[in-house]
Amino acid sequence: MKLEPEQKDILAGEKGIVLANALKTMVQYGNVFEAKRLVPIKSSHLAGTFGVSTYKSYYRILEQMVEENITCRVPTTINPRPGHQLNWINRIAFSSQKKLDALLSDIGVIPNYSCVCYDGANIPEFGDRISWAESSAVQYANSVLGARTNRNSLLIDLCSAVTGFAPEFGYLLDENRRGRILIRLDVQKMDASALGFIIGQRVVDKVPVLENYPFTPIELKNMGGAMAASGGVALFHVEGLTPEAPDLAAVFAGNPEKILTITQNDLDALRDKDPGAPDMVVFGCPQMTFEEAMDLGGNFEGEKAKLPVWFCLVPEACRRFKETETYQQVVRAGVSVFDFCPTAALTPGMGKKKILTASGKCYYYLDNTAYGTVADCLAACGV
Ligand code: F3S
Repeated sequence: MKLEPEQKDILAGEKGIVLANALKTMVQYGNVFEAKRLVPIKSSHLAGTFGVSTYKSYYRILEQMVEENITCRVPTTINPRPGHQLNWINRIAFSSQKKLDALLSDIGVIPNYSCVCYDGANIPEFGDRISWAESSAVQYANSVLGARTNRNSLLIDLCSAVTGFAPEFGYLLDENRRGRILIRLDVQKMDASALGFIIGQRVVDKVPVLENYPFTPIELKNMGGAMAASGGVALFHVEGLTPEAPDLAAVFAGNPEKILTITQNDLDALRDKDPGAPDMVVFGCPQMTFEEAMDLGGNFEGEKAKLPVWFCLVPEACRRFKETETYQQVVRAGVSVFDFCPTAALTPGMGKKKILTASGKCYYYLDNTAYGTVADCLAACGV
């Protein structure tokens, strides 16, 4: 790999052993994928926010950074907290939360605590090279904003954040951003989250191009999150909607490798068929934006939910939501409003609870979870 003089100096230890190790990690990572150089990045987004007591090596790396006064060289945001104060099981499972939060603050991470970092805290521009972990955020940044990131791991991103560089390979390069699979839609009642889940399963890690459909930004967020969970998709295009797909000729280099048609029956097949009632309903994975919460919250006005319901929002959106009359109505209806990651919060003490969710990602990650459309979930709530 060809290195710039500044990169060689860092590697030689001129800025300390920890930064040298971080850059060495970037070089080795790049070499594996045959990257020719390290390029400057505009931002990072880290995924390591769950204060699990056994993550000792991670905390040690952060401590070493603090000892050498190393801070993030580019704006760096961070994923949601895991609901560590929710109950005693979570307090034990995430007993290192306070320590982790302090270490992240010491290295200069922006405390947005959201996987939807692009909802205000960290909004890359078209063509920006960035280094993000968190598959749903990677998906949105690449696909909807036209920024360029690989689907990195937490520690790779930490090394990128403090060095300000990422190896140039994969989705940083034009040739890997082309469409590979054309997705035709035979759908009468759109459910973007279910669609994302099915696309992820079928294309796995290729770049799908959906034929034109007027998805809203919230649908794109929820579809991308599901697609990145059920498959390894890090970039999708929508003909005439997302920035690198003005038309099919522009996004495909030649013909698609394959054409898949997803039908209404495919979407409906994902929905829960079990007549047994769920124990709770969860909304917000990826976390809900303010607009999403206001929209969904309207359904609960003047109603009483039949079972426990969670709304999980981006923290800043949560703060704004709590100032609204809709929030008061939602709480009166019995909904609990949180700003953490519902999937992490429910993992330690889930037991045999059956959860119904309209999130393809939550459905993928949590055991004993059923999938329903937003309408199915509202019906289960009795509103
Ligand atoms: Fe975000 Fe947690 Fe879901 S990080 S995408 S709310 S699993």
